[in-house]
Amino acid sequence: MPTKIFLSEDEIPRQWYNLAADLPGTINPPLGQDGNPISPDMLGAVFPMNLIEQEMSQERWIDIPEGILDLLYRWRPSPLHRAIYLEKALDTPAKIFYKNESVSPAGSHKPNTAVAQAWYNKEFGIKRLTTETGAGQWGSALSHACALLGMECKVFMVRVSFEQKPFRKSLMQTWGGKCIASPSNETQVGRDILAEMPDTPGSLGIAISEAIEAAVGDKTGKTRYSLGSVLNHVMLHQTIIGLEAKKQLDKFGIKKVDTVIGCAGGGSNFAGLAFPFVQDKINGADIEIIPVEPASCPTLTATPFSYDFGDVAQMTPMLPMHSLGHKFIPAPIHAGGLRYHGMAPLVSHAVEAGLMRPMAIKQLECYEAGLMFARTEGLVVAPETCHAVACAIRSAKEAKEEGKEKTIIFNLSGHGLMDLAGYEKFMAGELQNIAMSAQDVEESIGISIAGHPVPKI
Ligand SMILES: Cc1ncc(COP(=O)(O)O)c(C=O)c1O
Repeated sequence: MPTKIFLSEDEIPRQWYNLAADLPGTINPPLGQDGNPISPDMLGAVFPMNLIEQEMSQERWIDIPEGILDLLYRWRPSPLHRAIYLEKALDTPAKIFYKNESVSPAGSHKPNTAVAQAWYNKEFGIKRLTTETGAGQWGSALSHACALLGMECKVFMVRVSFEQKPFRKSLMQTWGGKCIASPSNETQVGRDILAEMPDTPGSLGIAISEAIEAAVGDKTGKTRYSLGSVLNHVMLHQTIIGLEAKKQLDKFGIKKVDTVIGCAGGGSNFAGLAFPFVQDKINGADIEIIPVEPASCPTLTATPFSYDFGDVAQMTPMLPMHSLGHKFIPAPIHAGGLRYHGMAPLVSHAVEAGLMRPMAIKQLECYEAGLMFARTEGLVVAPETCHAVACAIRSAKEAKEEGKEKTIIFNLSGHGLMDLAGYEKFMAGELQNIAMSAQDVEESIGISIAGHPVPKI
C-alpha cells in the first residue's frame, strides 16, 4: 500500500458541500440585539453581499468559481498520507490516515477560505480587509490571499500569541499585511479594554471587536471584515478538504471509514474534513466523528447550546452555538487557535443532533502526541493539531485493546514550525495541564450568556 496519495489538479472538487442542507431539525438564524432574526442587509457594512448570501444559503452544493480554483491550485489538492510509522510505533491494527493541510503557503488549512473570501470581496469592489488572528495562522493566510489579489490587509493579533510567536508578524508583513497586537490603541474597543485591564493577554473575542470596528469605521465603504472560522461560509470553503480526502481514500482502496477526527477551535478545519462524512452518517453510515478541544477552553463538551455574541463588544449578531461566553478570557495555552469562546453554529447543531462525539484533551497529552508524531512520521505539527493527533493515538490504542482493524482519519491542520517555543517549554517540563472546572464554566457562562435566547433544533 502506498504511504500517500496525491490527486491531479483536474481531480480537484469543483463544488463545496453545505451541511446546512442536510442537518436534521431547524437551522437557527443569527439574531440581532432585539432578539429578532437579522436580515442580510444588516450585515452589509461588515461583509460583502456575495458572502452574506453564501452564509445564509441552504443549497447542498455550491460551485467553486474558476477564479478561486486558480488560487487553490497553488497548493491543492493536498496529499493524504497513511501514518504507517506511527501505526508501527503504536503496534495497532488500526489504519491511520491524515490529510496534510500544512502544505499550503501559510502552513495550515486557513488559506482555503482566505483566498475564497478575499476573491469574493474583490469581486464586490472591496480594497481592504481587516481581521483577527489567534495563533497567527489565519492572519498569515489572509495576508497571503490579499497579496495574491492586490488587496490591503490589517490583522489584530491576540496579544499573548503576538508575544509568543513574533515570526508570525514577520510572515504577515512579508505578504504585505499589517499586524497589530490586540487589544490596541487603534480602536475605541481596544482603548477601553486597555484602560480597564492593561495587562490582559487578549482574546479572539476582543480582536474580533477591534477588526470589525476598524472595518465599519472606514467611511469610503471599501473595507470589510473577514473571519477565519465559525461562520457557515467558512465551514463551506473548508469542505474541499473532506471531499478531496474521500477521493484519496477511495484510491487507497478504503471502503469504510470508522473514525473521523479534527481539532476544533472555531470549528473550521474539523468541519472541512468531517462534514462530507457527516453527510454519509446522516444517510446511514456508521462513523464516529470527533471534534477535539482543549480542556482549558471546552465549549462542545462543557457548555449548553445557547445564543451568544461572537465578540466581546457585541458587534456581531448572536449566533446559536456552544459558548463559554463572549467575555471569556482563556488561559494562555500555546494552542492559540483553540482559545475561542464559541463553536461554529453548524458544528454545535450537529453535536446537538447526536452526529458527533466531542472530546476535550489536556495540553500535556497533546504535546506528548505531537512529539511521538514528529519522531515517527517526521512532521512537527501545530499545537492545535496535536489535539487531533492525541485523539487519533487514543483511538488507535483502543483498536489494539479491542483487537479491531479500524480506519481512522484525522486532519493535520497545520505545521508547528513557528510554534517551537511551545514545544521547547514542553520538553523543558515547564508546561502544566490546565482544565476548566464545572464551576469555572458555570461562572464564565453566568457572566455573559445568562438570559440569552436558547436555540431549538
Ligand atoms: C493549525 C491550526 N489548527 C486549527 C486551528 C483552529 O481553528 P479552526 O477550529 O477554525 O480550524 C487553528 C486556528 O488558528 C490553527 O492555526
